[in-house]
Amino acid sequence: MTEVAANLNADIDGNTVLVQFNLNGKDVRLEVQAFASLAEVLRERLQLTGTKIGCGSAECGACTVHLDGIAVPACVTLAATIDGRSVTTIEGLSPDGEPTALQKAFLESGAFQCGFCTSGMMMSASALLLRNGYPSDQDIKMALQGNICRCTGYVQIIEAVRKACS
Ligand code: FES
Ligand code: FES
Repeated sequence: MTEVAANLNADIDGNTVLVQFNLNGKDVRLEVQAFASLAEVLRERLQLTGTKIGCGSAECGACTVHLDGIAVPACVTLAATIDGRSVTTIEGLSPDGEPTALQKAFLESGAFQCGFCTSGMMMSASALLLRNGYPSDQDIKMALQGNICRCTGYVQIIEAVRKACS
């Protein structure tokens, strides 16, 4: 509790916290419940429903977003701790509406079926590609190790990430 409170670099008023952060390139100012997850705030307050909630406990990766360019599970990230930081969701991957190379590669490789895991997969993969433009298969597997797909399997997903950097 003390540790969480120390991280709240924002005005606390009862159970709500004022946070200001950059979301997909735009500044956002929002009062959030002190213990609301970032995933809940994105989906329910900001209508960014591309971020999925599966397990709710950092096990499946469906909720992955970028926090200052690093892939994190939004289901266990307190919205109150993102003050002053930069968040990118799947909606922010292609701000001009044009599919990115990664998104095209997922389509071309048939790297999804139901699609529930896809945004999380893409956010983990794109975070990898931000820091490593030519990852090995092992790098890709490591980057996606926190993302579970229950229907496609991983072969096409890894192929898609590989294709995105070719
Ligand atoms: Fe966040 Fe599963 S919903 S990791
Ligand atoms: Fe269905 Fe991955 S495409 S869970």
